[in-house]
Amino acid sequence: MIKVGIIGVGTVGTSVANILKDNADVISARAGRDIVVKSGVVKNLAKDRGLDITLTDNVDDILNDDEIDVVVELMGGVEEPFDVVKRALKSGKAVVTANKALLAYHRYELQEIAQDLPFEYEASVAGGIPIINALRDGLSANHIESMMGIMNGTCNYMMTKMTNEGVDYDAILKESQDLGYAEADPSFDVGGYDAAHKLLILASIAYGIDAKPEDILIEGIENVTQDDISFAKEFGYAIKLLGIAKKTGSEVELRVHACLIKKDEMIAKIDGVMNGISVVGDKVGETLYYGPGAGGDATASAVVANIIDIARSGKSTPMLGFDRPMEGDTLTLKPVEQIESKYYLRINVSDKAGVLARVTKLFEDNNISIETILQRPADNISANLLISTHVAVEKDVQKMIKDLEAQEFVHAQPVMIRIV
Ligand SMILES: NC(=O)c1ccc[n+]([C@@H]2O[C@H](COP(=O)([O-])OP(=O)(O)OC[C@H]3O[C@@H](n4cnc5c(N)ncnc54)[C@H](OP(=O)(O)O)[C@@H]3O)[C@@H](O)[C@H]2O)c1
Repeated sequence: MIKVGIIGVGTVGTSVANILKDNADVISARAGRDIVVKSGVVKNLAKDRGLDITLTDNVDDILNDDEIDVVVELMGGVEEPFDVVKRALKSGKAVVTANKALLAYHRYELQEIAQDLPFEYEASVAGGIPIINALRDGLSANHIESMMGIMNGTCNYMMTKMTNEGVDYDAILKESQDLGYAEADPSFDVGGYDAAHKLLILASIAYGIDAKPEDILIEGIENVTQDDISFAKEFGYAIKLLGIAKKTGSEVELRVHACLIKKDEMIAKIDGVMNGISVVGDKVGETLYYGPGAGGDATASAVVANIIDIARSGKSTPMLGFDRPMEGDTLTLKPVEQIESKYYLRINVSDKAGVLARVTKLFEDNNISIETILQRPADNISANLLISTHVAVEKDVQKMIKDLEAQEFVHAQPVMIRIV
């Protein structure tokens, strides 16, 4: 029998306890032994959780319990769970977590501390989708050429509603908060940080790259308006918040931002709160993973799968997928300013003769070639220019945006969305 201690019996922790009980028949048959929750830790002991497990508000009750084999960390946060899981590993316990923020900052230190002890985290990326398993085991024969995905259900829900129902950003944000999809402080989701944490975890497994959130390009969906959506529709695009990893030579670019993506791409068709990730391997070609990225039961399904794996073998594949560094050139992170992409810009300008020519001259001066231009009236003194470009270099585009901001005929900060 394997005994489990759950630190954090909230949305996901409660589902883990319930699944281990409800599906005990299939779980024990698959694991080859029974798996039971011995106890759980919460902050508020007075709250009824409808569970028949022993609860405590002291993590030491689990960390010092020699009968507990697996510690499941589901409390959230970064430094407090880091301390808790380090102590669990040091006392010889296996660890399972769903905590992407913890891993975005501390995965390599945890790998070092864990050594041969199992440390599993399937639920930390895309909730119920077994993407870590796929990348670390199923695709381990491949060099990974690229990964691109919808890794935040809240943003995808908002973009889908804005596209399909013409709802404005502020209205759909409020609706998402009312439905419980977005937090009271939504900046972590809509600012792209949650997706970035997940992308960094995947990048370690795919490329062995040790990067932190501050090392990569992270932008959100806060500036997307109905003007942008109407441009996207007119030119056959959807707008999505995507996490992108792309290997070119010995460099890997990692970025999270809103994207215009052709409507017929598989990723563009993923709507609502669902997540989807496309992974291209040099031998397998493109593979696509789709499913629920959040929710108690969907997330706990991945947590319990990790516990079953630990119960089966006691030793798992290397935590971040590599048993030792690759020989030869190691991959490095591509500097943000060298990223190449097509771009879309929305520029609010004076509605006067000669302005369009001055705008296009600034594009030319910065080596940026225009593909399409639309002009839409904004109010009685200004118009929005909606411009898409051919492939350009990020640093040139950033410089041109600064140049545009300095012009008296530009009324607001230009908005830029990259095209994939
Ligand atoms: N929810 C999802 O859909 C989802 C999806 C993927 C990953 N995750 C990750 O899973 C983790 C848990 O998420 P959740 O949604 O289940 O969170 P949650 O509902 O807020 O639950 C957190 C639990 O931890 C307990 N807790 C927090 N700090 C504590 C402390 N200092 N001492 C003791 N107990 C403490 C809370 O106790 P009280 O109940 O007494 O407050 C609560 O039971 C997070 O890392 C999250 O990022 C969640």
